[in-house]
Amino acid sequence: MSTPMGFGRMHRKEDARFIRGRGGYVDDVNLPGMLYGAILRSPHAHARIVTIDTSAALAHPKVKAVITGETLAGLNLAWMPTLSADTQAVLATDKVRFQGQEVAFVVAEDRYSARDALELIDVEYDALDAVIDARKSLDPDAPLIRDDHEGRADNKIFDWEAGDKATTDAVFAQAEVAVTQDMLYPRVHPAPLETCGAVADFDKVTGKLTVWCPTQAPHAHRTLYALVAGLPEHKIRVISPDIGGGFGNKVGIYPGYVCAIVGSIVTGKPVKWMEDRSENLMSTSFARDYHMRGEVAATRDGKIQAIRVKVLADHGAFNGTAQPTKFPAGFFHVFTGSYDLQAAHCEVTGVYTNKAPGGVAYACSFRITEAVYLVERMIDVLAMELGADPAELRMKNLLRSEQFPYTSPTGWEYDSGDYQKTLQLAMDMAGYDALRREQAEKRERGELMGIGISFFTEAVGAGPRKHMDILGLGMADGAELRVHPTGKAVLRVSCQSQGQGHETTFAQIVAAELGISPDDVDVVHGDTDQTPFGLGTYGSRSTPVSGAAAAMVSRKVRERARQVAAAMLEASPEDLEWAVNESGGAWTVAGTGAGKTIQEIALAAHSSLELPDGVEGHLDATCVYNPPNLTYPFGAYICVVDVDPGTGQVKVRRFIAVDDCGVRINPMIVEGQVHGGLADGVGMALMQLMAFDEDGNHLGASFMDYLLPTAMECPSWELGETVTPSPHHPIGAKGVGESATVGSPPAVVNAVLDALRPFGVRHADMPLTPAGVWRAMQGNPIRT
Ligand code: CDP
Repeated sequence: MSTPMGFGRMHRKEDARFIRGRGGYVDDVNLPGMLYGAILRSPHAHARIVTIDTSAALAHPKVKAVITGETLAGLNLAWMPTLSADTQAVLATDKVRFQGQEVAFVVAEDRYSARDALELIDVEYDALDAVIDARKSLDPDAPLIRDDHEGRADNKIFDWEAGDKATTDAVFAQAEVAVTQDMLYPRVHPAPLETCGAVADFDKVTGKLTVWCPTQAPHAHRTLYALVAGLPEHKIRVISPDIGGGFGNKVGIYPGYVCAIVGSIVTGKPVKWMEDRSENLMSTSFARDYHMRGEVAATRDGKIQAIRVKVLADHGAFNGTAQPTKFPAGFFHVFTGSYDLQAAHCEVTGVYTNKAPGGVAYACSFRITEAVYLVERMIDVLAMELGADPAELRMKNLLRSEQFPYTSPTGWEYDSGDYQKTLQLAMDMAGYDALRREQAEKRERGELMGIGISFFTEAVGAGPRKHMDILGLGMADGAELRVHPTGKAVLRVSCQSQGQGHETTFAQIVAAELGISPDDVDVVHGDTDQTPFGLGTYGSRSTPVSGAAAAMVSRKVRERARQVAAAMLEASPEDLEWAVNESGGAWTVAGTGAGKTIQEIALAAHSSLELPDGVEGHLDATCVYNPPNLTYPFGAYICVVDVDPGTGQVKVRRFIAVDDCGVRINPMIVEGQVHGGLADGVGMALMQLMAFDEDGNHLGASFMDYLLPTAMECPSWELGETVTPSPHHPIGAKGVGESATVGSPPAVVNAVLDALRPFGVRHADMPLTPAGVWRAMQGNPIRT
């Protein structure tokens, strides 16, 4: 494949090392004298700690230290702030509040001894009743989980609302048709193949702390370590090496990271801590767990007028949810979706339960996945009520292109869209009418075929500083670009790839702006000592924010190049024109053909060429990009399933996905992102659930129970695209990394319920396992 000068299909630069097994992950970091940490975890979901006896563990010949909550309390580190400004126990001091909670940390000469010594720690617990079902957490007799909060009397975290209640209620009062549906977006886990972990190395002589960990937000981690531990920020270096998948799981700071740091400070040696799979599934973050009631008001002929939503949000034992400070329910209030309606209102109540904390945006922009699922299920519920075709109902209510920029009833400003075109393309690719005919014939024969549609709008690229911060840190991103004398460039960015191919696409952005080959641009990321400040990679924000910063800093360099070229050509800078052709980018004197290539300019910028006053030499620049708005990618998905009437087994036969993420930098990478997200969506819709028994025992702490989709469950994806550029992004791109994870679950669920239409089933909760589908066919779709 030839290398394009700018945007276009190009193999990922990173693959050269990944396919040779030469990636460098945190567990590959091995330092001289390194020790190993292991965490003792609570077997109870809720229990008071009576005593912890570490003497036998300390007597183990290879154990160097045993750290407990009491040790940390002495350093004022027993509790740490969460991303939602709550507190979370690093190691439990008073109580344990979920099964798998961190109780003690052993540091030993090797991994095995550290694990062995965990069994030598004797903890006496006094078991307490646990709150597992969020719907019971506010019962008057529910056990109080956060008795560490002074004055707290119940398990409520927050009540939050958005939209206009009075107007929405008034529309409902007059509505010809109103439908209501309860649904659960179950607790799931991002489950990256690489688990979390850290290597901490505190150098007592220099006072420098270096932490290698697979964080999606290295700069935010560094600042938080500085604030929490009181260490000087310039003496902390966070290195985020290659990451084996993040999906939101690697945004937060976990107790294991803090323990590794304390372990290194206490022992004076580097300390490595790596989670195993069960620890990852049990303790480091979860996603969703939203109990939602949706209501839609419409006219009898199918014009949607209003949506009303009530949510009970299960946040686990500590409110560690990741989202901008202003929005305790993330971006859930984008729940009006892609539709033109008069009014909307939502109320969200967050509660504590005896489950792991987290609430991360698993491959989505904060709580958008839940919002899209809700509205897309509700459209199908309404279609069933009206006897309408779900595609026609959507077509009738989708926003029209002339309505953009569009302000939603809950305050979002969608930047651009051409929704009908995108849905029509998906329907044409699917052969929608023929599919409906096939379905009708099959129904006659008792065969269960379903066609499910979802249309989603995401809001990605958090975000404008005036609206968005995380724990007070504004969400603007820096970028630095250096063009060396020979015209080769190095871009430094704050975001951190976890497999999305930034080293390729960000090089392509610079290449397109400067008219050089992407092979001539190296991208440096994931090291706070090497890169400018920024808030990291999650919520598909890299391209909308850091990608924009990359374009803007390249433009600054190009402007400097114009000044240098003017001096070289003895012309006025205003008379120069920029052009990129097959041989590259050049500034040329208008109408003369005389010009200088970017490489010639780079050499001259570092030479003895006399430059006018005020024009600095070299070709370097920095910038900080504060996005004026989010970007709003969208898409139309159609899923075709066959359901076995004897077993309830669902087979996804076809999946058509038309995505619009504005200008595509590298269509091949975009398609890869979409493939991954669609597989994720099939997994969530059909097989994934973090299940607990009533005592809070975790029932899915391995991949034997928590099922990941494989090629066996996935069809050959059929992808299409429309391109509606973002008007405010410098290159017209919108984020795409998570679109498919957001858009696909409702398409699959709508398809399965469409297949079950002969049984009169209106809704069944994910995951639609064979047992779940079979239950729905028996008229008992709600899981208890
Ligand atoms: O923040 P994250 O990298 O997860 O998501 P993203 O910004 O949507 O980007 C995912 C990958 O797709 C990156 O390599 C992007 O540069 C690439 N992309 C693209 O080529 N064109 C777009 N319009 C959007 C993303």
